[in-house]
Amino acid sequence: MANLLVRNVEIHHPRFIGFRKMAGLGPNPDNPAIHALRRKGMLGVYYDFNRGGQDFIVKGRLDDLSDTRLVPSLSRDSAVQAFVDGPVLQRAHNVLTETPQLIARARYYNTDKIDFDNLSFGLTPTDAMFFAEIKANGQWPAAASLVPFGNIPISPAAGVLNYGQGLFEGMKAYRTENGGIALFRPLDNARRAQNGAKRLGLTPVQEEIFLDAVERVVLANERFIPPYGKGALYIRPLLIGSGGIMGVAPAPENTFIVFATPVGPYFKGGLTGISLKISDEHHRAPAGGIGNVKGIGNYAPGMVPAQEAKALGFAELIYLDAQKHTYLEEAGAANIFVVMNGELYTPALSGTILPGITRDSVIELAKARGYRVHDKQRLSRELLASAEAVFVTGTAAVIAPVTSITDRGNKIIFNDGRIHPIVSDLHLELTGIQEGRIADPFGWVHALKA
Ligand code: PLP
Ligand code: COI
Repeated sequence: MANLLVRNVEIHHPRFIGFRKMAGLGPNPDNPAIHALRRKGMLGVYYDFNRGGQDFIVKGRLDDLSDTRLVPSLSRDSAVQAFVDGPVLQRAHNVLTETPQLIARARYYNTDKIDFDNLSFGLTPTDAMFFAEIKANGQWPAAASLVPFGNIPISPAAGVLNYGQGLFEGMKAYRTENGGIALFRPLDNARRAQNGAKRLGLTPVQEEIFLDAVERVVLANERFIPPYGKGALYIRPLLIGSGGIMGVAPAPENTFIVFATPVGPYFKGGLTGISLKISDEHHRAPAGGIGNVKGIGNYAPGMVPAQEAKALGFAELIYLDAQKHTYLEEAGAANIFVVMNGELYTPALSGTILPGITRDSVIELAKARGYRVHDKQRLSRELLASAEAVFVTGTAAVIAPVTSITDRGNKIIFNDGRIHPIVSDLHLELTGIQEGRIADPFGWVHALKA
């Protein structure tokens, strides 16, 4: 049984690729060939065999062998037996390694129809993801292959699971007005991930490898990019200490994953304005911590407080600095801007705030549009009383207008609860550049397909 060799590959249907073995044995969970296929991300396996003079095929799902059942063999001459032997077999192997999304498609065929009209910020499994694993401080492979989107095997002692040694990024691919595909400032995400990696003892991914992985994931999942104006393909690069370790030290292996999922608005009511509340109980990041990088450990502490705030009708919490509990820092996973006397203010990057790429873009965009921008000082919570408008920025959040902020029980309403023209102007400009409606004088748009 250990010698069971997979000889042939078939594509029975665009949704199913299976390996075929002539005269073989039924799937056995301990079979090394099955393990090998599973590692390759294979979904299913077809075995030919003959019992009592009759040809059978064993159709097995590698992710669930209990589902294995016997089905009558397909005729050897059948058109569905796309691959047989020799060079054709090689071609079949190439298909499997180059287009893993075909395999994955089989697993998710029930979700083939994506409701692009009702997207929220949720997870839709897509076809392919990027996966690369190295020894810590090793060299990331220049071209690790894509694998089907799916679960990953990981040591229970992995640094990321036990000690939170991991970071993520967030980016979007947009379908542009003329049908192209565009990324927004992807190299800035690559650089931010490098800074995070250094802080967290992970092996930084070179910019070009990061970009190549992101591009390939987007193109492999092209069918999941929402039509123009209906959302975006959210891309999630993930760098983790995946090797097992007991001491509190960098894990011996690192894994870099890039997956993607179609998303709609991050904040419900994001376009009409959201209500926020200042947290007096919790902080996001202490000085000297990891607030200025996208470490995974920054996010779990905000989950329960955010749920509690949502139960009270707020979209998110605003966190103040952990030292003096006075200065505005961030609104959950978004940076904050305040408009006063027609000028823009955003908290300085004091070391506890994530240097948002949308934040930086809004600063540049606002300056180019003639607004004065103050981004080098801390902003006291007291200043909100004289604000004309507040908005938050992020890849997921885009530019979300804030119509009210509740501070110590006092609800401050901005611009009578209406969206301020400065905010709609910046929103229109930023999304216009991102979605290709407006020319990009900044060199931010990275076209993947014209
Ligand atoms: N702040 C935090 C804590 C975040 O997680 C994010 C999201 O990435 C942002 C701000 C906004 O950053 P960016 O505009 O780069 O998405
Ligand atoms: C992003 O805006 O990309 C984020 O990372 C937000 C995320 C935490 C949902």
